[in-house]
Amino acid sequence: MNLDELIYYLDGGNDSELFARSAAAKSQGVGNQTHPRGLIELSNICPKDCYYCGIRQPNKEINRYQMKFEDIVAAADFAHANNYGSIAIQAGEQQSPQFTQLITDVLTELQTRHSPPLGITLSLGEQTKETYAQWRLAGAHRYLLRIETSNEKLYYTLKPNTPKHLFNNRLQSLKDLRECDYHVGSGVMIGLPNQTTTDLANDLLFLKNLDVDMCGMGPYIKHHNAPLQDSKQSINERITLTIRMIALLRIMMPNINIVATTALQTLDENGYKKGLNAGANVLMPNITPPKYCVDYNLYDNKQYVDILSEDFNIEWGNLGDSPHYIARTK
Ligand code: 5AD
Repeated sequence: MNLDELIYYLDGGNDSELFARSAAAKSQGVGNQTHPRGLIELSNICPKDCYYCGIRQPNKEINRYQMKFEDIVAAADFAHANNYGSIAIQAGEQQSPQFTQLITDVLTELQTRHSPPLGITLSLGEQTKETYAQWRLAGAHRYLLRIETSNEKLYYTLKPNTPKHLFNNRLQSLKDLRECDYHVGSGVMIGLPNQTTTDLANDLLFLKNLDVDMCGMGPYIKHHNAPLQDSKQSINERITLTIRMIALLRIMMPNINIVATTALQTLDENGYKKGLNAGANVLMPNITPPKYCVDYNLYDNKQYVDILSEDFNIEWGNLGDSPHYIARTK
């Protein structure tokens, strides 16, 4: 699809055609099963100043935590016992030898602890290529790093233009991850202040061009202690835009894994279901122990929803790898 077509559909030009096409692309590209990943929010310590995010370093109103090795392994055991085939480990963007080692130790332990081992996605931000390689070798095989927006100018309204936050570094990280042979995921926020439909259409072209294996995109939601202003779009507008974005990406990239995000579920009690209907095929329910996850608030009113309902058509106990990765590395 070209830019004009994307803008046409994003503006609501023909929803019935859009969703019919995405449903066909989904069943042909990835089938109709939903793959669950148990999400472990390992730490909310973060050195960055992203203006939208509730765990940004300058936010002094939260309790900082880091799960211990034993707690992380116990959360993975919980996932395994509950028939998750995969987990995702997410945290603030800490870069330190200790942190790198902790993750390496966890990954090493998880390779032999369960049989077969859980699939592991990391979502730990920008790191050096050496660190990415070390974690890949230790057993992680997927990595999520959202570009947040592909418009560099808009990017610097989300983050300060300082050496810690350079757009080009984030692009480099995405390249490094691919070179380290990860299944690479990226994504954007939808409904940011000053974001246009053209920006969103360009985001889709960016993801296509990056040839991602996985994608997570969700609505922007204001956090009360983060300085970025609220979205100019209503909740309903953001929900609608998000499901159109999912549907368009599914048509453009039929065999990638696409997440129906918690942010979408936070704005709409049927968000997961709407995301899946639009073309998503992954859910990432939170399995962080309650004593920690209360402090992992990226945005206000974050939801915790169980996915046992038949509605979600979950395929338990399987890795659920992205067919796109399998095809491109064959
Ligand atoms: N609203 C929506 N999504 C957010 N994220 C962080 N803060 C917010 C927010 N206020 C998303 C970012 C990040 C992911 C882990 O969570 O896109 O990459």
